[in-house]
Amino acid sequence: MNFEIKPIDLGGAAQIHSDATILVFSSSYPAGDDVLSKHLARALKDGQLDVKPGKLLALFRPEGTSSQRVILAGAGEGSAKEVKQAVAAAWNALKTGHAPIKKLVLCLAGLATGGAVRAAITAVADATYVYTATKSKPEGRTLEQLIVCLPQARELAPEFKHATAVVAGIELAKEWANRPANHATPSHLAQAARKLSKETGIDCQVLGPKEVAKLGMGSFSAVAQGSDQALRFIVLSYQGASKTHAPTVLVGKGITFDTGGISLKPAAEMDEMKFDMCGAASVLGVFRALGELRPKINVVGLIPACENMPDGRSVKPGDVVTSMSGQTIEVLNTDAEGRLILCDALTYAERFKPRAVVDIATLTGACVIALGSVRSGMFASNDALAQELLAAGESAQDLCWRMPLDDDYAEALKSNFADVANVGGRPAGAVTAAKFLQRFADKYPWAHLDIAGTAWKSGAAKGATGRPVGLLLDFLLAQKPLPVAKAQTAKNRKA
Ligand code: BES
Ligand code: MN
Ligand code: ZN
Repeated sequence: MNFEIKPIDLGGAAQIHSDATILVFSSSYPAGDDVLSKHLARALKDGQLDVKPGKLLALFRPEGTSSQRVILAGAGEGSAKEVKQAVAAAWNALKTGHAPIKKLVLCLAGLATGGAVRAAITAVADATYVYTATKSKPEGRTLEQLIVCLPQARELAPEFKHATAVVAGIELAKEWANRPANHATPSHLAQAARKLSKETGIDCQVLGPKEVAKLGMGSFSAVAQGSDQALRFIVLSYQGASKTHAPTVLVGKGITFDTGGISLKPAAEMDEMKFDMCGAASVLGVFRALGELRPKINVVGLIPACENMPDGRSVKPGDVVTSMSGQTIEVLNTDAEGRLILCDALTYAERFKPRAVVDIATLTGACVIALGSVRSGMFASNDALAQELLAAGESAQDLCWRMPLDDDYAEALKSNFADVANVGGRPAGAVTAAKFLQRFADKYPWAHLDIAGTAWKSGAAKGATGRPVGLLLDFLLAQKPLPVAKAQTAKNRKA
């Protein structure tokens, strides 16, 4: 899809020949005497339309405009959330029409903020994305051209660039997450990372089973050992600032298929476990956007990727494995595999002396029960880091919610045969998973995003959402570089 932003008002926008125009307006839109403003003013005055988000009025070839269809869409006070709602509602109304929309004009009236621009563009992209990778007769996206009209386009050019980069990142994440597991193996993910590296100049290293074993990653290796697909450990390094600046490390869970292993999952909906690499996909998406935006920060991406399969060689319930940290782990349930691959990646992250480490994982069904698909679960060992992630979630409209990490929750992980067990009981399942990870993340400020409920949708709209690429990018872009020497540890970094 081709995006453009034009510094024109409603008068200018009405002259553009297009298949459809969406006019999103806030309560503070400036009423002009152009034809679109007049339609809008009349509709509001006659009580045919309201400014509330979700309220729409559709017009067919309105007098004085060059568009086939015009949708007037209220966006309330003009917050990012309201704009997102308005655009989604307008596109839903448009797509029920008979004629395909190839060229769309999007006018933002009284919405000259970066948040509104980003929300509008990401909402159009989200609504029009089409998966094609494994279709024999791919019918791609029908929308070819999006023209955003905003009188203040010049001042908001950086926000526009940000929005298109986020879209590119979200779409790469969706693409890999949606691919079935036989088209998205650990090796395929490594190839995707290498391709990204070639296109952007971002450094990429890929380790295989032997190198991972040599590093002492006995926990990650144990999960991978039941599969015919060899594991891959992907290391991406984006350097936008001097080497003396401590990087932020992102760790993405890359289970390309989760059968549960010997603790086999039930058959129903097991296909959705192809999405168990959405954390990894979100890391790839973030690096795609970093490659476009080139911010002055350093970021490392770590992706442990493997399948979780039942086999004669699989790790068994009760097996004790030794992690890279030296801690031994009793694998009481082979279906709690995400934490077993993440813990070794968290230990590996220490070598970067990071300012912060954030892991992203479709980690627990319990998190889906706790928070559903609205907010991702967020755990943080550090209050400042938690605040940054919450704020990024708000600004990107990719929400998260802080969950507790009281030490009392770790009681459930006690083992008679190893330093720690990989599962607690059913109570607070998302929290005990985070408490397990925290044991391996004590050398730096650390946060964990459990995206099990937010990374994909089930049912008729089954498919990846691209979350939390938006949150992570806003989080990274809000950072001020921090020199290595001053990089703080979880204990001494003050809120
Ligand atoms: N990938 C799953 C978590 C998951 C399940 C995400 C369903 C989204 C929907 C993870 O590896 C897993 O199986 N977790 C177990 C942990 C349990 C064995 C302690 C779970 O949540 O049931
Ligand atoms: Mn599992
Ligand atoms: Zn899993």
